[in-house]
Amino acid sequence: MPFLLARHNPRACLCSVLRKQNEQTRIQKVESKKCPCPPKIQNNMPLVPELRCSTIPLYNGLQIPILGLGTSHDGGYSHDAIVYALTECGVRHIDTAKRYGCEGDLGKAIKESGLDRSQLWLTNKLWPGDYGYRAAREACLDSCTQMGVEYFDLYLMHWPEAINQGGSNREVRAETWRALEELYKEGVCRSIGVSNFLINHLEQLKEDCSVMPHVNQVEYHPYQQPTTLMEYCAEKGIVFEGYSPLAKGQILSDPAVHQIALKYRRTPAQICIRWSIQNGVVTIPKSTKKKRVQENFQVFDFQLEETDMVALRSMHDGRRVSWDPTNVK
Ligand SMILES: NC(=O)c1ccc[n+]([C@@H]2O[C@H](COP(=O)([O-])OP(=O)(O)OC[C@H]3O[C@@H](n4cnc5c(N)ncnc54)[C@H](OP(=O)(O)O)[C@@H]3O)[C@@H](O)[C@H]2O)c1
Repeated sequence: MPFLLARHNPRACLCSVLRKQNEQTRIQKVESKKCPCPPKIQNNMPLVPELRCSTIPLYNGLQIPILGLGTSHDGGYSHDAIVYALTECGVRHIDTAKRYGCEGDLGKAIKESGLDRSQLWLTNKLWPGDYGYRAAREACLDSCTQMGVEYFDLYLMHWPEAINQGGSNREVRAETWRALEELYKEGVCRSIGVSNFLINHLEQLKEDCSVMPHVNQVEYHPYQQPTTLMEYCAEKGIVFEGYSPLAKGQILSDPAVHQIALKYRRTPAQICIRWSIQNGVVTIPKSTKKKRVQENFQVFDFQLEETDMVALRSMHDGRRVSWDPTNVK
């Protein structure tokens, strides 16, 4: 796996220029050009490897690493796997949520890694029980405290439905979003977004608010490809981020995926993750096993041929492994 010794500086690097020039085919082009940044060792930075991972530009200029590590509740968190990911695999992007109940543990793992906060991309999510202007603000600041950080790189409304608040879903979403807009302007959240939002939810938010979401995080794998929503997001400048890229493990035994894995001498998980990032989708597989974390991040040294990309694309059958926001007004 190719490693850099020090943090890649996108602002000072020609990569960012290349990315802007190649908006349409940005992933393939960036990957096919070697980063011209010379490896550097800076005095105040720990000597841990950093994965050479492509990034996707948000409309405010931030660059989100295209591949990150997921965390979750119900046994979905492993301290050792997180520390291993950060210190041995060069992972710099972690996705979490208050709902997953691991903010404090994650904060400890980050500290143990020895990495500087500025070297990481941390996404957190606001749970619907904390929706409403005041509750949202307090919940975000509390999450920062729990994790021992001063800001999040990305902060998402987890789900479009309001629970336990007065007012319609639309009203509560707008009021909550106003709090996120403020946190964004104050720098507590470097970017803000939503999760599990459909086009109607985004259209309402567009009418009600002033800052459009930077990201929409939605279920995405070969069985579940919301292409109309993806096209809408692309048109509005919202980065599409896909969760459950392995369909919670369900797709890993699919014969069609195995066939492609055999061809490339890769694992089914690597094929699904590579397919997702090769489609330009920010991807966050979760594993609590060190070996699998390592495997899931070794996807930048091969490319799927167009015929295999199409074969995987043709597997869409609409099935979901997570929740379905279709009926949320
Ligand atoms: N915004 C939302 O509403 C939402 C919803 C769901 C998920 N997410 C985010 O997306 C992340 C990923 O989604 P997910 O956890 O639902 O599903 P996933 O990443 O598609 O799959 C995780 C499952 O696959 C297994 N696995 C991982 N790598 C493997 C490998 N190389 N070989 C075999 N099995 C492997 C894991 O088991 P082990 O842990 O035992 O390895 C786990 O059971 C979550 O952690 C979370 O951050 C967000």
